[in-house]
Amino acid sequence: MEFTPSTTASLPLEEAISQRLAGVIDPELGLDIVSLGMVGAIGVSDGHVEITVALTTPSCPLRGQIERDVRQAILSLDDVRSVDITMGQLSPEAKARLMDTARSAAQQDAPNTSIPLGARVLGISSGKGGVGKSSITANLAVALAARGLTIGVIDADIWGFSLPRLLGVDGPVEAKDKKMVPKKLTVGSGELRILSMGFLADEEQAIMWRGLILNRALQQFVEDAHWDDIDYLLIDLPPGTGDVQMGLARLLPKTELLIVTTPPLAAQNVAARAADMARRGNIRVAGVIENMSDFTCEHGTSYALFGTGGGERLSKQLGVPFLGTIPIDPAVARGGDIGSPIALGTGPTSDRFAEIAERLVTDVAPLRELEGCTARLLATLDDALNNAEL
Ligand SMILES: Nc1ncnc2c1ncn2[C@@H]1O[C@H](COP(=O)(O)OP(=O)(O)O)[C@@H](O)[C@H]1O
Ligand SMILES: [Mg+2]
Repeated sequence: MEFTPSTTASLPLEEAISQRLAGVIDPELGLDIVSLGMVGAIGVSDGHVEITVALTTPSCPLRGQIERDVRQAILSLDDVRSVDITMGQLSPEAKARLMDTARSAAQQDAPNTSIPLGARVLGISSGKGGVGKSSITANLAVALAARGLTIGVIDADIWGFSLPRLLGVDGPVEAKDKKMVPKKLTVGSGELRILSMGFLADEEQAIMWRGLILNRALQQFVEDAHWDDIDYLLIDLPPGTGDVQMGLARLLPKTELLIVTTPPLAAQNVAARAADMARRGNIRVAGVIENMSDFTCEHGTSYALFGTGGGERLSKQLGVPFLGTIPIDPAVARGGDIGSPIALGTGPTSDRFAEIAERLVTDVAPLRELEGCTARLLATLDDALNNAEL
C-alpha cells in the first residue's frame, strides 16, 4: 500500500486546526485533547487564531506543556500568523465526561507495569534502521543521567539489540522476587538501569527464539522488572512502524515518541510515517532529533554530507518541537564500539546531547509533581479500576 502523509493543505483552516489538535496528546490520560473534550470554540480571522483549552484544574502541572503543544501545532500551519490561547477549566459535567472517556480507554489498556506513575516514557523511533536510533538512545540516556536523574533504558530492538555493546554492559541479569533486576551503571550522580535481550541470550540463541518471544520480551521488560524509582524510561524501538510500536502503546499508554531522522528528504518521509502511526495510536510525539548532520573536519570546515534541514522540516510538518542536531562524528561510532558513549566525555558533540537532554527536562517532557491534576486523577482511576469488578 502506498503511504500518503496526512495533509492539511486543502482543508478550511478551522478544520485543519482541529485536525492538528487531535494530535495533541495528554500523555497521562493517553488520549488527545479533542477526544477528551478539552478544546472549546476555535475562532479564526485573517490568520489570527483564538482558542480556549479547558483543563481539569487550573493548577495542572501539564498546563504549560499542553499550551506549548497546542501553540506549536497551530503555528506550524502555513495560514496561521498568530494564536491566542485561553486556558480555562472544565465544568464538573465536562470533567465527569472526560473521566468516563479516560476510564474506558484505561480499561482497554491497563496492564500492571512496574514503571512508576510519575516517570516519563520516551520511545526512540525512526522509520528505518541505521539512522542512529540506538546511538541516540545510549547517549541521551547518559546525558539525562548526568543531570542526576535515574534513567531506565529498554532495548526493544529485540532482533538487533545493540545497547549492551553501546553502553559496555554485559548480562546475565539477576532475578529478585521472580522479577528481573536491570543492569546498573553510575553516571555522575545519576544512574542508568538497563534491560536488553542481549543480557538474556547470546546473539545466536536470540535469533532462534525471536519469533516465539518477541512480543512477550518487551512486555516482560515492562511488567516483570524492578524499575523502582526511575525518572525517565528510554525505549530503543526497532525500526519501522509495526507491531512493537503498537504493542508498546497498549502496554504503556503514556509512551511518547522521539523521532530520529537524518537530513535527506527520503529519510523524512519514512520518519513521517512513524509519526503518522503514532498519531493513530494516540501517542504524543514529543519532538524530532536530526542525526548525522554536518560533518566538521579537523580544520573546522563543515560539510553537509547528507543535505541539511531535514529534521526541522519534519518537525514543522508534524507540528512538534525540533530538539536539535547531532553531527556526523566518528567519535560517536568509536564510543559505541568501545562501550563508552561520547556523551560521557566533553566536546562539541557531547554538548549537543547535553543540550537536547536539557530541552527535554526543562521544556518538552519535564517531570512533574505527582500531586498534580491528571497524575492524581489517574491514581484515583487506578484505584477505582482495581476496586471495580471488571
Ligand atoms: N552522529 C553519528 N556520527 C557518526 N556515526 C554515527 C552517528 N550516529 C550513528 N552512527 C553510526 O551509524 C551506525 C548506525 O547507528 P545505530 O545507532 O546502530 O542506528 P540504528 O539503531 O538506527 O540502526 C553505527 O555504526 C553508529 O556507530
Ligand atoms: Mg539500533
